[in-house]
Amino acid sequence: MGTLSITQLKSGMVLSADLVAPNGRFILPKGACLTSRNIMSLKIWGVAEVAVSDRSDFPCEEDDFLYSSSVMEEARSIVLRIFGGIPPENRAMEEVYRVAIREAARSLTENEARPPVFFTQEFTPPPGAPLPKLAMEELVGAEVRFVSFPDVYFRISEALQSPKSSITHVAELISKDTALSATLLKLANSAIYGVPAKVDSIQRAAALIGGKALSILALGVSAVKSFNSIPSEWVNMESFWRHSVAVAVLGQIISSRKNSRIIEKVFVGGILHDIGRLVMLRHVPSVMARAIAAAAERKVPLVEIERELFGFDHGELGGNILERWGFPRELSDLVLLHHAPAGETHSFPAAALSVADTLAAALRQGSSGSPYPPAISDEVWNMTDLSPGAIDSVVRQARRQISEIYSLFKGGDDDGKTAAHS
Ligand SMILES: [Fe+2]
Ligand SMILES: [Fe+2]
Repeated sequence: MGTLSITQLKSGMVLSADLVAPNGRFILPKGACLTSRNIMSLKIWGVAEVAVSDRSDFPCEEDDFLYSSSVMEEARSIVLRIFGGIPPENRAMEEVYRVAIREAARSLTENEARPPVFFTQEFTPPPGAPLPKLAMEELVGAEVRFVSFPDVYFRISEALQSPKSSITHVAELISKDTALSATLLKLANSAIYGVPAKVDSIQRAAALIGGKALSILALGVSAVKSFNSIPSEWVNMESFWRHSVAVAVLGQIISSRKNSRIIEKVFVGGILHDIGRLVMLRHVPSVMARAIAAAAERKVPLVEIERELFGFDHGELGGNILERWGFPRELSDLVLLHHAPAGETHSFPAAALSVADTLAAALRQGSSGSPYPPAISDEVWNMTDLSPGAIDSVVRQARRQISEIYSLFKGGDDDGKTAAHS
């Protein structure tokens, strides 16, 4: 179809090239579907012409025509309930609501199965018991004693810290663990990398994505497997890992728009971002029961109550645990900051995870226990350099990948054990 002036654009048209504003800011990717809303916002961005194609690579939907008004009404009330009945307060959240409502309408229409609820039994605070005083160091120590990693984990961790270790050495180490190699090969062949030819050996995967990136993925996969061997009395681990995978995939797509060299870091950071919450639930369930009840009553994210009760949040706890386990600092810091990416730290990868965290909740992709998700602030949103219209294409791209990566973690190793079930 070629290049059209903005007055000739119609909703339902598909972009044939990335769309960038005159000031250089990325607006929408090639393949995105134009809606009446984002055509209007193109005028605000000062865009005069747009390259559109005459065929689409994925179904191009204009929400208003697709679903009945009763389905849209139900979808709206589902999304409003997720955010405690509070309407969106900025443009980024308006877009989150809009896309989440469309996804809820699609899910209702297709009778899609929902991930299970997070709590497996009623989780009520015991009456009157005094709150124990808790130091973060105690929880870190308790967890580090609790979890045991396979040998290969420590060897990969050592190799990652040694400037002398080569890609070949890392590939050899990983190849010795067949279950780990199988999961990593599935990841290398997944939509994350979109490699056209099949990657059939760890050596090839290492050459393709780099020794450091492969090592980071290997540490992440080992950590997930070690966590899965621990039964949790209160929580449904399927719901937890579904949330973690959704945040990993969404975060990785958001960050790849700006910097494709950090996708493994953001992906593994996403997979492990809420392990601190799991540790809190496991070691101090009665305190967490009170925290959850308070968050539900006050309609605030659980992370805020954690800070009030403990003086630290699950991000800080998780980051400290990862550091103690020998994860690279850049990864433990990312987990540590995922609820505080702004301020002095200004961490772009943590901002990507923070936006992904809210999006995953809005899309009802599992849970890590917070009754209400945090809203995306203007400051955090601006750090990601995304235009509000980009949420639409991020979610469309993520939809299939979340299921693919989740089933890979859930079903995936050679010895028949499931990786995402406890
Ligand atoms: Fe979190
Ligand atoms: Fe989360």
